[in-house]
Amino acid sequence: MVLLFDFIYRQFIHKPPPPTASFKGKTVIVTGGSGGLGLEACRWMIRLGASKVIIACRNIAKGEAAAEEVQATTSCSPDALQVWELDLSSYASVQSFAKRVTTELSRVDAVLANAGIGTRKFRMTEDNEETITTNVVSMTLLAFLLHPKLRETATKYNTQTHLTVTCSELYEVATFKESNVPDGQIFATLNDKSKAVMSDRYNVSKLLELYIIKEFAARFPVSSSGVIVNAVAPGFCNSELHREYSGVLVDFLVRILARRTEVGARTLVYGASVGEESHGQYVPDCKIKETKGLTKGKEGAELQHRVWVELKQKLEAIQPGVTTLS
Ligand SMILES: NC(=O)c1ccc[n+]([C@@H]2O[C@H](COP(=O)([O-])OP(=O)(O)OC[C@H]3O[C@@H](n4cnc5c(N)ncnc54)[C@H](OP(=O)(O)O)[C@@H]3O)[C@@H](O)[C@H]2O)c1
Repeated sequence: MVLLFDFIYRQFIHKPPPPTASFKGKTVIVTGGSGGLGLEACRWMIRLGASKVIIACRNIAKGEAAAEEVQATTSCSPDALQVWELDLSSYASVQSFAKRVTTELSRVDAVLANAGIGTRKFRMTEDNEETITTNVVSMTLLAFLLHPKLRETATKYNTQTHLTVTCSELYEVATFKESNVPDGQIFATLNDKSKAVMSDRYNVSKLLELYIIKEFAARFPVSSSGVIVNAVAPGFCNSELHREYSGVLVDFLVRILARRTEVGARTLVYGASVGEESHGQYVPDCKIKETKGLTKGKEGAELQHRVWVELKQKLEAIQPGVTTLS
């Protein structure tokens, strides 16, 4: 019931304010910047003065079209927007994207880890079900690979940089039945088609993102890194996220309930500019909020630890040493 009231309040009464922080001179990376919330976040960043916005996407033609649209509506210099290939369903693509960032960009002030999928179809990419590879494993791999660049930028320019993940309020309703297994078996169970609860899968992926942000932030404090790590939630928005669920009812609900992506994207931009009080925090609608559900208490702490231990092992198998940040 509380969740329902909260939903109604957020969708119909409260509107995240337009962002005002300056991104002047800054370089920003937006994954999934070719559409939906990511595209609108790119547009906001340009309006707020960013010198360079990297649209990181798997479909270059779609990314180029997005860049042209942002340029046409903001009259920014064509050089301000660059389209770089990044496919989160491939670890090799994540690694080569991160290598390019490290070698070609002189600074990175913010990474909006925004790309994500929602599906009820069980498909494997790399060694996981696709939602887990895209929203969880590759997102975390990218976070580890780009953290050194964010840290370097913070030191070199005497500033604080941001790693902001687009989470979702749906983490609250995750039942995460796949966690009722012995230690070390969570990812194997998520990747077992016969045991996967696909109706809960997107919610679980967003719960795992929260665990990761909390754990990552605790291990790499802003005081030593200069990198603020947080998770935002944009509310229910009219994007392409629901493409695999489309039908008369879903289309109707989206039309009457959903926010415009421009409005939801304000929360992403806020996350990439808010201060260090947001480190390790959940920031829906531009406000820090305590998390609920399976993140709470002893059970939440245990689950977070188990997920982190397993995920670290997976990342180390992809690239030995990647989780060791100085
Ligand atoms: N819309 C909502 O109501 C809502 C609510 C809460 C949270 N979110 C979160 O917001 C984020 C953005 O979603 P959206 O609503 O803007 O949906 P969207 O319009 O579907 O955008 C998702 C973006 O992620 C990209 N993407 C998907 N898989 C990828 C992959 N393997 N490699 C690289 N990019 C990939 C998509 O690229 P393609 O266009 O090539 O597919 C697209 O650019 C997601 O993390 C989502 O979970 C959305």
